[in-house]
Amino acid sequence: MSYRSIYIEDLNESYLGKEVVVAGWIQNYRKLGAIEFLDLRDRTGIIQLSAKDATKIPDARNEYVVSCRGILQKKEVPNPKLPKGDYEIEILEMNILSKADPTPFPVKENTEALEETRLKYRYLDLRRQKMVNYLKVRAKIVQITHQYFDSLKFLEVETPILNLATPEGARDYLVPSRLHHGSFYALPQSPQLFKQLLMVGGIDRYYQIAKCFRDEDLRSDRQPEFTQIDVEMSFLNQEEILTIAEGLFKQYFDKILGIDLKLPLRRISYWDALDTYGSDKPDTRFSLHLENLSHFKNCFFEPFHEKTYFRGIFLPKTIGSVSRKKIDELSLEAKKFHLDTLYSLKIENGQIEGSFAKFLQDELKTELLAMVQEDGQLFFGASLERRDIDFAFGAIRLLLAKEFALIKPNTYDLLWVVDFPMFTKDENGNITAEHHPFTRPKDEDYPYLKSDPERVLAYAYDIILNGYEAGGGTLRIYDPKMQEEIFELLGLSKEEAQARFGWFLEAFRYGAPPHGGFALGLDRLAMVFGGTDNIRDVIAFPKNLQAIDPMSLAPGKASEEALSTLGIKIVK
Ligand code: AMO
Repeated sequence: MSYRSIYIEDLNESYLGKEVVVAGWIQNYRKLGAIEFLDLRDRTGIIQLSAKDATKIPDARNEYVVSCRGILQKKEVPNPKLPKGDYEIEILEMNILSKADPTPFPVKENTEALEETRLKYRYLDLRRQKMVNYLKVRAKIVQITHQYFDSLKFLEVETPILNLATPEGARDYLVPSRLHHGSFYALPQSPQLFKQLLMVGGIDRYYQIAKCFRDEDLRSDRQPEFTQIDVEMSFLNQEEILTIAEGLFKQYFDKILGIDLKLPLRRISYWDALDTYGSDKPDTRFSLHLENLSHFKNCFFEPFHEKTYFRGIFLPKTIGSVSRKKIDELSLEAKKFHLDTLYSLKIENGQIEGSFAKFLQDELKTELLAMVQEDGQLFFGASLERRDIDFAFGAIRLLLAKEFALIKPNTYDLLWVVDFPMFTKDENGNITAEHHPFTRPKDEDYPYLKSDPERVLAYAYDIILNGYEAGGGTLRIYDPKMQEEIFELLGLSKEEAQARFGWFLEAFRYGAPPHGGFALGLDRLAMVFGGTDNIRDVIAFPKNLQAIDPMSLAPGKASEEALSTLGIKIVK
């Protein structure tokens, strides 16, 4: 007998009364009188098996691997919870192929096992339909991606994993060289430099499903090892590049979600996104806009700096009201973004209440009432830095959305954030690149590069899906002189730039086409399309938040011998 003639998901009316062979794991077994019932699971589903004479079949326990030949029948009492709950297979012959010890947690759809346990025994976790579905969504994204880029004459090219450092801003994973003691390869944070060199090499349109590695603090949407859909193209302007990315999303939405995505997507500038939603990756599935309340300055006794920004959020009464305890929570969140005080006012029947209300001058009261027009609660605060106050209120906005369930499940929100600033200031007041240092400043801002670098915007764009940064890209500098100027602004001397990137920059002296591209986070796409907010769900064997693989416990210690071959001594 073959192990299997059919997958469970393919069983249908046409097989009724016929012999089929299914194979998989025993999910469940129970005896009713002389009849034995077993649920058999394969990658595609679950089907009930039954044996009228239980003595004729071998004793199978949970997670035993079996192959079973039998006749497909209609069930007298269908099980509406299972896709194949209308059918059962009457066993003619069943063979146990492999026995199983009791598993550390029961393999069932609604598992109560802790995530760490599920990760330690990932191979058991993967037996669940839910996990298989995540992997299927992921595989579908990859398949659509290949078809799409192939149809547009993009060439798939692999780039090296053992490299010199890439400038994406995170810490590198280093690999010591055995042949060159004291020298290290860096694992790619992205294929950024190579894809640009492919353009200098005339490849013109490149894409790759690329593994990237970044040693950074982990979060629910960040893994140390992740996958990018990496794309670069020559002789196209920003709008043409965005259109190519949008076409890909149209395919994803159609083929994965069955949604007809309307194009072109909305484009919002970086500063508008910050001032309106408090985020450069705004979730616009719900409104709750930030209000610009900078004239509230007037109601404070203390003088405010000219550049102090005030923002507020108004929560209409129809949405709900926030308890004192919750306000403390919001304040705590806001503090993480350097917002010291969060004021709260209540507007009821044309009256403004709250401990702070007495400080409001009449004209501000009138203005406020006109602005909000309905009853509700207003939170506001002030901060010197525009980014700080925006991000603080962005966080408050998200907490309010969560508290009042403002995001409808199964809704999708996709937009571009464009016109990022070229530079930001770090904690020490030094200018750093907002993206990477090869990003091209906008033509109209180029004249201000030296005089007012902070006002210079870049040809840089992020694509935002349900509040996640699903991808981003830029147009690149292809003029060596402009590149030199940017390095200089970033405080990188000619010598330093030469030492770090000389091998790369030289290429631009031999004829570089105008080019640009983007990279999408495959894992994040799979997360959103798969309906989870945990990136680990969509990676077969992920790391935990401590960057450890709970199954193998990698990273591990290297033997003395291996270390000495590499010329490395561990210092405690
Ligand atoms: P960027 O650094 O924005 O751009 O990365 C592109 C996309 O990759 C995803 N991503 C991650 N996903 C999971 N875990 C991580 N640690 C992680 N880091 C990034 C995000 C992000 O939007 N070379 C440029 C692209 C370009 O300019 O063409 C780059 O890597 O979804």
